Amino acid sequence: MRLICLLALSITVSLALDNGLARTPPMGWMSWTAFYCEMNCQKHPHACINEQLYMDMADRMAADGYLAVGYKGVHVDDCWMDRQRDAAGRLVSDPQRFPSGMKSLAKYMHDRGLTFGIYEDYGTKTCAGFPGSYGFLQMDAQSFADWDVDYLKLDGCNINLDLMPVGYPEMARALNATGRPIVYSCSWPAYLINQPQKVDYNVIGEYCNLWRNFDDINSSWKSIMSIISYYDHMQDKHIPTHGPGKWHDPDMLVIGNAGITPDMARAQMTIWCIWSAPLIMSNDLRNIAPVFRDILQNKAVIAVDQDPLGKMGRLVANTTDVGVYLKPMTPVDSATGETSFAIGILNRNPVNRNSVEFVLGRLGLSSPGGYRIDDLWTGQLVGVFRPTDSFQTVVNPTGANMFKATPVALANLKGLRFATFK
Ligand SMILES: *[C@@H]1O[C@H](CO)[C@@H](O)[C@H](O)[C@H]1NC(C)=O
Ligand SMILES: *[C@@H]1O[C@H](CO)[C@@H](O)[C@H](O)[C@H]1NC(C)=O
Ligand SMILES: *[C@@H]1O[C@H](CO)[C@@H](O)[C@H](O)[C@H]1NC(C)=O
Repeated sequence: MRLICLLALSITVSLALDNGLARTPPMGWMSWTAFYCEMNCQKHPHACINEQLYMDMADRMAADGYLAVGYKGVHVDDCWMDRQRDAAGRLVSDPQRFPSGMKSLAKYMHDRGLTFGIYEDYGTKTCAGFPGSYGFLQMDAQSFADWDVDYLKLDGCNINLDLMPVGYPEMARALNATGRPIVYSCSWPAYLINQPQKVDYNVIGEYCNLWRNFDDINSSWKSIMSIISYYDHMQDKHIPTHGPGKWHDPDMLVIGNAGITPDMARAQMTIWCIWSAPLIMSNDLRNIAPVFRDILQNKAVIAVDQDPLGKMGRLVANTTDVGVYLKPMTPVDSATGETSFAIGILNRNPVNRNSVEFVLGRLGLSSPGGYRIDDLWTGQLVGVFRPTDSFQTVVNPTGANMFKATPVALANLKGLRFATFK
């Protein structure tokens, strides 16, 4: 009896998605939220879905510092295809807008040290009505591998929802069978948002490297808030099923777009990094203001997102306006097991600044030796605090502050002393 159980267990374990990819949350750029499905290149020559758009973004990523801080994927979204498959049933790119073809576009990315992501849909058609992969999963996986694609986003429009647990694993196996390492992003749970009892993230994590599970983002504070609120309420389900190789994806960064202020941009970046979320920008890198570029390229903030522990942070205190988030991260004290923490403090109020004060130990910062605390947005050292000390900060409306707390035993103290922050 016992032997049979162990065997069953080992079989389950070997089925887990084991492609060794996305050990830290994917970072890059994707077209959808900035350019949607604009196909009129006569009217919008610099803002339509064509190969030039992706080449332009690749150039900016390589030349303007994004690649250097970790944004390496250039991701095509819907509307890249021709309306018909070819005579052999294979997908083909739109001949007017992608005349060089997808393999050539992949090469353009690889020549610049970038990776190339593509979009398909599990259903009979994509969300915008182009040929879907239903009935063609193996053939399409092979096309992506032949084109040297590094990442697939598989959407879930136009398919019976009961087939989700069949098709998404089938594509996982088809990708694996090509022998090419391809990061696999699934929209599977996003389409089951009204049937949460059918969403088992342990199962999804066996087949997908990341997955969307909520509404599409758009460039508004309302949209950012709705995603944060959903994730806040789902955190007990999300946190244990999130980690290296399997990430919940709250959707793209809208930083740099009209409608998003610098405070909102810092708020989105803070919370996404506290979650160890994928950092996939959707904006126009050809004309982004320096203030937004600096927010997107803040190395200390990105290091929180890319921390090797890969833990999703937790909302640990909540008032009408303010949420305080805590994310355990490296460095970890190997002797005591005490971790460092990133702290995110979000002010949801649209007009009022909020002064926030809390005793560190009450929220879980309980290392008896205390912590060195650094402000990650200003780059300034705040001070050294005991768990019994009170910590205070003022947060702008629609903004967030972000700190890192490192246990004193692991921190560079440069002769600092304990001092209660006033
Ligand atoms: C395919 O799956 C096997 C077993 O899980 C794994 O060892 C291998 O790395 C995978 N290959 C690719 C290309 O994903
Ligand atoms: C953006 O998202 C919000 C929240 O989901 C929604 O209420 C709003 O209608 C969306 N705006 C657009 C232009 O789609
Ligand atoms: C946090 O507080 C706000 C305001 O009271 C509330 O709307 C929200 O539901 C709370 N979040 C959680 C996760 O309880």
